[in-house]
Amino acid sequence: MRQFNVVVLGAGGVGKSALTVRFVRDVFVEHYDPTIEEQYHRPITVDNELSSLEVLDTAGAEQFTSLNEVYIKSGRGFVLVFSLTQEVSLKEVESLRKQIFRIKGTENVPIVVAGTKSDLVSEREVSTATIESLTSRWGIPCYETSSKRGWHINEVFEDLLRQMRVR
Ligand code: GTP
Ligand code: MG
Repeated sequence: MRQFNVVVLGAGGVGKSALTVRFVRDVFVEHYDPTIEEQYHRPITVDNELSSLEVLDTAGAEQFTSLNEVYIKSGRGFVLVFSLTQEVSLKEVESLRKQIFRIKGTENVPIVVAGTKSDLVSEREVSTATIESLTSRWGIPCYETSSKRGWHINEVFEDLLRQMRVR
């Protein structure tokens, strides 16, 4: 069975851990406990092929972002996370994307963008149109997710896995 390592990156509090834990354990983490670093593992079958994903959930907090360089060097694929309820968190995705391309020395890197908290409709700050124009310019797929409701979580990791298998 092939194994792939995935790094989950994004600003603090956007929902990286909730997304990761929903994917790995299918539960919603309601309580906010800022992450230092957490490694998870999940077998996943996509296109009739079983693979193993090692998912590294990282810290969004500023004092840990110096580690991002190390994570980017070691990661095969990346989930860049922002919150649909916090427009400023999209800026972090933009800068992470540039950092990944610089460190990897190529733009041919498996990446998926995840906009979180789609269930919080009345708090929403980022429109679907904004996301579509950005991600089509970047050529990176984006999913609007809710870890609370379990919406479009698997799609994020399945898309990334397909990218990792061919690159
Ligand atoms: P750091 O580890 O500090 O970088 O934060 P994080 O990005 O891991 O955020 P975390 O997953 O801990 O989520 C922060 C808060 O947002 C928690 O209280 C979560 O329950 C909440 N949250 C995350 N995803 C969702 C979602 O899809 N819907 C709703 N309603 N709340 C969410
Ligand atoms: Mg976290």
